Amino acid sequence: LIIMELPFAESYKIKMVEPLRKSTREEREQWIKEADYNLFQLKSDQVYIDCLTDSGTGAMSDRQWAAMMMGDESYAGSSSFFQLKETITRITGFEYVIPTHQGRAAENVLFSHLVTAGAVVPGNSHFDTTKGHIESRKAFAVDCTVDEAKDTQLEVPFKGNVDPKKLEKVLAEKAELVPFIIVTVTNNTAGGQPVSMQNLREVRAIADKYGKRVIFDSARFVENAYFIRTREEGYADKTIKEICKEMFSYADGMTMSSKKDGLVNMGGFIATRHEDWYEGAKRFCIPFEGFLTYGGMNGRDMAALAVGLDENTELETIETRIRQVQYLAAKLDEYGIPYQRPVGGHAIFVDADRVLDQIPKEEFPAQTLAIELYIEAGVRGCEIGYILADRDPVTRENRFGGLDLLRLCIARRVYTNNHMDVIAAALKNVYDRRHEITRGVKIVWETELMRHFTVKLERL
Ligand code: F0G
Repeated sequence: LIIMELPFAESYKIKMVEPLRKSTREEREQWIKEADYNLFQLKSDQVYIDCLTDSGTGAMSDRQWAAMMMGDESYAGSSSFFQLKETITRITGFEYVIPTHQGRAAENVLFSHLVTAGAVVPGNSHFDTTKGHIESRKAFAVDCTVDEAKDTQLEVPFKGNVDPKKLEKVLAEKAELVPFIIVTVTNNTAGGQPVSMQNLREVRAIADKYGKRVIFDSARFVENAYFIRTREEGYADKTIKEICKEMFSYADGMTMSSKKDGLVNMGGFIATRHEDWYEGAKRFCIPFEGFLTYGGMNGRDMAALAVGLDENTELETIETRIRQVQYLAAKLDEYGIPYQRPVGGHAIFVDADRVLDQIPKEEFPAQTLAIELYIEAGVRGCEIGYILADRDPVTRENRFGGLDLLRLCIARRVYTNNHMDVIAAALKNVYDRRHEITRGVKIVWETELMRHFTVKLERL
């Protein structure tokens, strides 16, 4: 008698569904042309499976919806705020909490206090809004990510790490210009790659040596904790909450986009252990976001966020999430499609330079691949590459130094593994005819910062 081991399955069942709309290739060719070949300009009903982002696109649980009904909409002193604050303090150890309407608002409020012209902010691949909030203040974001992150085929467990040597060099040369170090967990731009606990400890030690503080850009901190649990020695028996607590013990504060690992559709916050940062940020929260006990959020949204943070920091929830992304990655392995390895937490990052190796950088291979995948099956991905990198603020040249990736984000608790099969098959079809795709796109209109949202393109 052979007893079958039960397969892994989702830690939830489904109570509400939302219909999807399929379209024809002809329709999609027309729509993407009308959108100036920019996938941000498509209407959502022109999309079959939406992998544009995992930000604010997840499904809430019944407990979160129940919490919404209990939201306290008082302008000042909302009980939902105190519920949220208690949850954040319990998970992170940070005592001071300022809600904001999303992650970039947290950056705006905190950086208004901390970043001045000429400042230097080292970190691991600053996210584009983070970089935007630094550069728009005439300061400089210095990327100290490990070099391993640049080789998509290299299989190392913590490709999101800060290179301690690069960080130390910045501090040794420019310490007086550095207001703080920022570590993004997980490292979205490098492919949703995690940062090890060991690395967080090293960053802390360097920061202490130079008397500097550390901020975690924490949008996907739970995914990071899951990777520490599964990949780093000594953490296999710890709970996700214990790992999160240790991670944050190496930081002075955090900016958070709750739209990712908070399991809500809108929201963000700043949390810190330092009263002076709280006092400084407060001055910008009130004019930019709102009073301190709501700062840009509804009471009901704060209530749902408190439940979401608690839910997502349970092993079953985060394991279900990561295993779905790994399921899709295994399909791509089957088809031989190159992506940033090993797969990260929230998305597959297809190495477009390798897939469309006939297309010159100047014609934006990853954007071209995104367009092809959309036309193939209505799957919407997003370029994380040369267009997103913007131009160098000084030379105004395109920045071709980084990777050119097509990101396929997986929304939390939204699609089934059958949808993953569709994404993989569509990508395989494009991959199999890659040699026929010889020309890319050219930019016909762009903005100075964060151009990828509104850029207009023409097919060559
Ligand atoms: N930090 C990281 C690491 C992010 O990935 C994002 C958003 C932000 C900050 C800003 O947060 O959107 O709430 O203002 N990333 C989304 C994405 C937009 O698609 O990766 P926000």
